[in-house]
Amino acid sequence: MTETRDFLDLDQIDAATLRRIIDVSARIKAGCEHKPLLVNRTLAMVFEKPSTRTRVSFDVAMQTLGGGVVSLEPSGSQLGRGETLADTARILSEYVDVIMFRTSSVANLEEMVEAATVPVINGLTDRSHPCQIMADVMTFEERIGPIAGRVVAWSGDSNNVANSWIHAAAQFGFEFRLASPPDLRPPQDILDWAAANGGRISVGDDPVAAVNGADCVVTDTWVSMGDKEADRSRALLEPFRVDEELMAHAAESAVFMHCLPVYRGDEVSAEVVDGPQSVVWTEAGNRLHVQKGILLWCLLGSAAFA
Ligand code: CP
Ligand code: NVA
Repeated sequence: MTETRDFLDLDQIDAATLRRIIDVSARIKAGCEHKPLLVNRTLAMVFEKPSTRTRVSFDVAMQTLGGGVVSLEPSGSQLGRGETLADTARILSEYVDVIMFRTSSVANLEEMVEAATVPVINGLTDRSHPCQIMADVMTFEERIGPIAGRVVAWSGDSNNVANSWIHAAAQFGFEFRLASPPDLRPPQDILDWAAANGGRISVGDDPVAAVNGADCVVTDTWVSMGDKEADRSRALLEPFRVDEELMAHAAESAVFMHCLPVYRGDEVSAEVVDGPQSVVWTEAGNRLHVQKGILLWCLLGSAAFA
């Protein structure tokens, strides 16, 4: 029996494979490799939370590679009436070749993975957003060059997106400096994993110290989907807004990234997100190319990289 290639988190796939997925995605974007490699393959997308970019980029990626897509949500499926995720995973595995799942909890993702007999892709949980950070690494390298040895700074809520940046820092060999309120810190087990795997991660509460000389400044919404402490978080996060004053501490050539959707005036000023250092539109666009690399790896494995 061949091993199922799930794309679940950036700490669960070896660094060489992640590098190859980025390189293949970049080659596909450049137009050098764009064959209909997934004809007669089907992707099921299951959304327990809203999505624009992940939904459309996976759909278009699969179709462009020659495959088909079905999408379901609790409101229009038996999930909404109590059919279990495990049963849903078994059923979907009879029909499709790969499942992309966006859900709140890691436990839900694990239930899906456990029961599915086809690869499962993490389309975001409360803990991580690995597909997003693959697109972010690709965007960084497109704009600045190899990310190894460079500095990425985060100022804001320490959330699922930040967690995947921490994983990526260890896997791709860059420094990640995170500034957040002391009460909103990354999970200790993620920091421990990064430390044990050579990650250069610093965590503090001074945005200027984090951003100083950085090659890339990143932030994300102050209120993630399902965030139950939104009011508290907003009050704590005011000093962590990315504005032009904070960006001035980064390297002159620094770029600004945000996974989107953005809330101008909260986590970032309009001047920055709509300004000359912002690469957020390219970053969102690269979701499409990276989804192709991820789908090819899940469905074809090393044959995708031949
Ligand atoms: N960045 C991102 O994942 O966007 P969506 O929530 O629109 O998919
Ligand atoms: N941290 C955000 C990311 C959205 C793509 C959230 O989980 O809502």
